[in-house]
Amino acid sequence: MKEKILAILCGSPGYISGEKMSQELGVSRSMIWKVINGLREEGYQIDSVTNRGYRLVLVPDLVSSEAIKPLLKTKVFGRAIYDYKEVDSTNIVAKAKARDGAKEGTVVIANSQSRGKGRLGKTWESPAGKGIWMSIVARPRIPIQEVSGITLVAGLAICKTIRRTTQLPAYIKWPNDIVVNGKKVCGILTEMSAEIDQVNYVVIGIGINVNTTSFPKELHKTATSLKIESGQDYMRKDIIAELLMAFEAYYDQYTKGKGLSEILDQYKELCITLKNDVRIINKNEEYWAKPVDIDDTGALIIDKKDGTRKRIASGEVSVRGIYGYI
Ligand code: BTN
Repeated sequence: MKEKILAILCGSPGYISGEKMSQELGVSRSMIWKVINGLREEGYQIDSVTNRGYRLVLVPDLVSSEAIKPLLKTKVFGRAIYDYKEVDSTNIVAKAKARDGAKEGTVVIANSQSRGKGRLGKTWESPAGKGIWMSIVARPRIPIQEVSGITLVAGLAICKTIRRTTQLPAYIKWPNDIVVNGKKVCGILTEMSAEIDQVNYVVIGIGINVNTTSFPKELHKTATSLKIESGQDYMRKDIIAELLMAFEAYYDQYTKGKGLSEILDQYKELCITLKNDVRIINKNEEYWAKPVDIDDTGALIIDKKDGTRKRIASGEVSVRGIYGYI
C-alpha cells in the first residue's frame, strides 16, 4: 500500500485528496491517513490542507529498495534489494544470503554499519545516512583465477559513476580504491566462496563516502567525500542506481566477452597508479618502481630500478604513489 500511495503522490503535481486516493486504491480514508503518517515518520515531507488533500514536498535521501528500484534499468543487478537501517556489515549479510541461495544481482544496502569491514582486517567507518554501504552478490561462470578481475570491473563502474553524477575528477588507485584530489572516497572489498573448480558466489562490498563532512582524526589526511570535494549534497539512491547500471554493463562485458581486455583501455585511462612512480611495499622489502601497464588478468606490471620487470597480482602488496597516499 505504501508504494502505491507514494506512486500516486509522486505522480500528482498538486494536492490530491484522501478521498480520491481511497477510491483509486479501494481502501478506507483512515488507511490512507495511517500510511501517510508512516511515510512522514520515514522522512517524507507531505503537506496536508483541509479540503485539498495531500502534496509530496520532499523525498528523503533513503537507500531503500522502493526508492532505488524505480530508477533502475538493469536486468539482473538490483532486481532483489535488501535494505536495512543498520547491519554489522553488508558483506556479512550478503554472504549469508548468497549461502542461502540468493540470486546473482542481489544487493544488500544499509543506512549504517556497526562493524563495516575494510581490507586487510581494517574497519570501515560507515556513519548513518552519510554514505553508500552496499554489497552485490555475483555468481560468475568464470575460472577462479579470473575472479579478482571483478574488483577492477567494480572500480571502473564506480569511477565512471562518480564522474557522471558529480563531475568530480575521480580516478582509480589500482586495484580497488577510488580517489578524488589525492584522497580516498571509496573502497571495495571483494570476498569469494569457491570449490576447487567452480565459483559459488562473489560478494562485492562497496563503500562510498557521499555526504560525509568529518572523519576520525587518523583518516584526515587520506579520506574524503563527494560532498567535501564538491561542496554539494547528493541523493545516494541516484548514485546507487547509476552504479548498478554501469556495473551490470561492464560485468556483462567481462563475464560474457573476452574478459578484462574489453574494458582495460577505459580502466587504464582512469587509473592514477599508472601515471607516476609507485612505492611497492610488501612484508620483506620496499622499493620505488615505474608502473608500465595493467595486463589482461588485472595485474600491475612494473619496472624495478635495476631494470627487471615484475608482475604484481592485486592483493599481493601495498602500492603507494608519489603523494604518500595515492
Ligand atoms: C577498503 O578497505 O578500502 C574496502 C572498504 C569496503 C567497505 C564496504 S562498505 C560496504 C561493504 N560492507 C563492508 O563491511 N565493507 C564493504
